[in-house]
Amino acid sequence: ALFDTWTASCTTAPAEGATPPALSLAERYDAVRGRTDALVAALGAEDMQAQSMPDASPAKWHLAHTTWFFETFLLGPNLPGYSVFDATFGYLFNSYYEAVGPRHPRPMRGLITRPGIDGVRAYRAHVDTHMRRFIAAGLDAEREALLRLGLAHEEQHQELLVMDVQHLFAQSPLKPAFHPAWPAAPAGPAGRYRHVAGGPVRIGVADEAFAFDNEGPQHTAWLEPFQLSDRLVTNGQWLAFMALGGYRRPELWLSDGWAQCQAEGWDAPLYWQREGDTWFHMTPGGWQPVDPDAAVVHVSFYEADAYARWAGARLPTEAEWEHAVRTRHDLEQVYDTAWQWTASAYTAYPGFTAADDAVGEYNGKFMSGQMVLRGGASVTPPGHSRPSYRNFYRPGQRWMFAGVRLARALA
Ligand code: AVJ
Ligand code: FE
Repeated sequence: ALFDTWTASCTTAPAEGATPPALSLAERYDAVRGRTDALVAALGAEDMQAQSMPDASPAKWHLAHTTWFFETFLLGPNLPGYSVFDATFGYLFNSYYEAVGPRHPRPMRGLITRPGIDGVRAYRAHVDTHMRRFIAAGLDAEREALLRLGLAHEEQHQELLVMDVQHLFAQSPLKPAFHPAWPAAPAGPAGRYRHVAGGPVRIGVADEAFAFDNEGPQHTAWLEPFQLSDRLVTNGQWLAFMALGGYRRPELWLSDGWAQCQAEGWDAPLYWQREGDTWFHMTPGGWQPVDPDAAVVHVSFYEADAYARWAGARLPTEAEWEHAVRTRHDLEQVYDTAWQWTASAYTAYPGFTAADDAVGEYNGKFMSGQMVLRGGASVTPPGHSRPSYRNFYRPGQRWMFAGVRLARALA
């Protein structure tokens, strides 16, 4: 069933004003929660315990934290007489909400051995029971919006879970697969540049269906005409960049990027290792030869930027990306392959204000030192992303499924 959902993943931009999937809120709640359980079905308790680096979390922690989100923001304040499942879980599973209280340090999440996975599953079941009652009683607009946030939040953690387990498994000499039958990301020919008209363009969401707060307010941006590739940079193209000294030529790199490249000894994307004449890399399907026709993934912003300079191109701004996706329907690999680095720093749109309650901490407080990525990846839950979606990471991070779509000036 997991892979049915998987292959249903959309490959082109959803039509403007498309009707949301005809699931009731109760059905959608069960579908999202069930998909998380399906994702971890092949993992053992030890797989779900370990934490491979400070940026990653144990799968067990993801299962508990997403549950804590519903308990803390929906059930606690809104379901009369609800008492929390365990009073210690607020400290253990609060990620970063200052308004909710103190929390266990993120780099030490792998040291939380209690509750065990059975305790976390019991926590999920308890919250599910109460969430179903809560939803069945009917929700006003404000609570429905919070529920939709909780569901989009769990979908974000589904992707983080795959990233984090892959990173963990990459540290093992056995190089196990997250799931041996995981479909490979689509491969194909190199991209071709498409013309995108400039002018005043509307960026961001106005209202309607669910979106995160950072996707608005809608506003006008001015774009010069430009060209955008219809496909992502391939592993084969990246191998040429490597062979021609891409990782050894400081003139291609931003200063901070070159410093990190030197300090960490980068000579290929994360997870790549050479065995004889063949490059192998870690994927959700396990340790596999690098397919030259597949899109490159697990590159940092710094690498993406250096590659673009080497190729005589540049990264698109996030407004260019969004406008192109809204107006050109011949772009490929938009949502189903790899997140695409943009040249845009992650900052507030004009007029943005975060909500003044705890969920106001969701996106707004991270608007410094990160770059925007657009689109979606092979590990993003189907239907999760959209043209206005703003993902964000620090420019040196590589464990997310991030790749490159090139832009350039008119020929
Ligand atoms: C948007 C993926 C950067 O990982 O912190 C999870 C997603 N927000 N819980 C992150 C998120 C709250 C977020 N990223
Ligand atoms: Fe979270």
